[in-house]
Amino acid sequence: MKKPYIFVTRKIPEEALKVFAEIAEVSMWSDEMIPVPRKKLLEEASRADALYTTLSDKIDEELLNQAPNLKVVANLAVGYDNIEIEAATKKGVAICNTPDVLSDTTADLTFALLLATARRIVESSEYIKAGKWKNWAPLLLAGSDVHHKTIGIIGMGRIGQAVAKRATGFEMEILYHNRSRNQKAEHELGATYCSFTEILNKSDFVVCLAPLTVETKGMFNKEAFKQMKNSAIFINASRGDLVDEAALFNALENKQIKGAGLDVFCNEPISANHPLLSLINVVAIPHIGSASVETRMEMAKLASRNIANVLQNKRPEALVNEAILDLL
Ligand code: DGY
Repeated sequence: MKKPYIFVTRKIPEEALKVFAEIAEVSMWSDEMIPVPRKKLLEEASRADALYTTLSDKIDEELLNQAPNLKVVANLAVGYDNIEIEAATKKGVAICNTPDVLSDTTADLTFALLLATARRIVESSEYIKAGKWKNWAPLLLAGSDVHHKTIGIIGMGRIGQAVAKRATGFEMEILYHNRSRNQKAEHELGATYCSFTEILNKSDFVVCLAPLTVETKGMFNKEAFKQMKNSAIFINASRGDLVDEAALFNALENKQIKGAGLDVFCNEPISANHPLLSLINVVAIPHIGSASVETRMEMAKLASRNIANVLQNKRPEALVNEAILDLL
């Protein structure tokens, strides 16, 4: 019997693909850094039973309409805003992601970004490497304290909770805003539920971890930045499109807020001459929230298991569109 065909859209360590050895024919885009071109992706989708994707691959109606055999798309990410979920569900295609395995790693990075921005770590490192350090001085590169300050987390999911847990170690007051109340975060971490406006008004650190949806797109706009404290630091480790980048630039330049730590951008990769990158009070890193060797391997293996399960008519470990379960 002909084995199902899996197309992997980016170079993934072979070890993570071992699970397919007996059950499928696999072909992989051979580049780690460059995404598969759209034309090639469409071609592969037209014969694939499964697609193993990354957040650079757009899985939309156009692709789904040309993929008669497609049963599953496994995204190597917890976020899945690159995929049109409703269209996939209508076509009976299972959409899978990689939650949980990356929560602690992404929370570590988010907190590192917060600390780096508050304590001007990147700027200090550049300063010393440029030979500018001539003397110790009382206020040389003085930043903002983190301990005992107020952190406002927008999006209290698994990563939000892991960030809140880290904040307890810094004895911070934890505020959060979420679609629904998170009892666990309230009881176990002492987090207080607030409206979006309250978070903006009260927080020293506003941390964006909400998923990108129609509702959250552009929620950090001119009005939002205006409502933050002048001493506030904004951190985004979710998706760039939650932010109006022009408004963020103006808020930083006009000292409406003090700084920003950004792991994500509206257009990735962001151009090196983007105005945001010209600001000394911006710490920018290239979407590396979950990028530890261990966690990326766990994510890769989970994505593989998700595909293997669907191809063997089993429930995948991380299914986004539960509505298709009846069809599996
Ligand atoms: C995710 O998992 O959604 C990250 O943004 C990519 O690692």
